Amino acid sequence: MARNILHINASARREGSISRSLSQAVVDKISSVDTKVVARDIGTSPLPILTEAWVGANFTPDDDRSAEQRETLALSDRLIAEIEAADTLVLGVPVYNFGVPAAFKAWIDLVARARKTFKYTENGPVGLLEGKKAYVVIASGGTPSGSEIDFATPYVRHVLGFLGIHDVSFVAADQLMAAGDEKIAAAKETIESFAA
Ligand SMILES: Cc1cc2nc3c(=O)[nH]c(=O)nc-3n(C[C@H](O)[C@H](O)[C@H](O)COP(=O)(O)O)c2cc1C
Repeated sequence: MARNILHINASARREGSISRSLSQAVVDKISSVDTKVVARDIGTSPLPILTEAWVGANFTPDDDRSAEQRETLALSDRLIAEIEAADTLVLGVPVYNFGVPAAFKAWIDLVARARKTFKYTENGPVGLLEGKKAYVVIASGGTPSGSEIDFATPYVRHVLGFLGIHDVSFVAADQLMAAGDEKIAAAKETIESFAA
């Protein structure tokens, strides 16, 4: 199947990163000759956190924004355009301190924009990034995936759903310090089951 993949990595590590190698394995598994991949490394090229100027620009109606406010939102616009252009997201996300890395949260803060990626309705917020599939590799050293101290997996599931991305497959490479080889083998088996 022809795909446009957006591949995001949030590990601070370039060397030895399990979430990077497994998310690459997902990309390789689901790719075919006509697949296009855009890679965005948010782990080693950190994104800025939100500022007062950014929040003000975002709240200002599009038509009323100054040139400076448009510039303030330019990176956010670009990151959203990357998602919009993709039909498939592949995310490599380590567990840091029981949740997602700050780098990943910074990306979410920049792409969760009212009227662009979600809207408010009488029935509550509705995501606007519809029709996309996401694969999420979560790597952890000790935190069991899906346990009550795993705040990363439910957070990623919820926030993707909030943006309209409901078709999400998780690959858990958890508790790597205890049984790394087995866990990585099991994760690779899960990845093998994904359709190209
Ligand atoms: C700053 C930091 C915080 C971490 N916090 C946790 C944690 O709360 N729970 C856990 O199970 N592992 C934790 N780890 C271990 C990582 O989740 C684990 O090493 C994982 O493989 C990192 O992903 P990577 O291999 O893609 O870099 C932490 C690692 C770092 C560097």
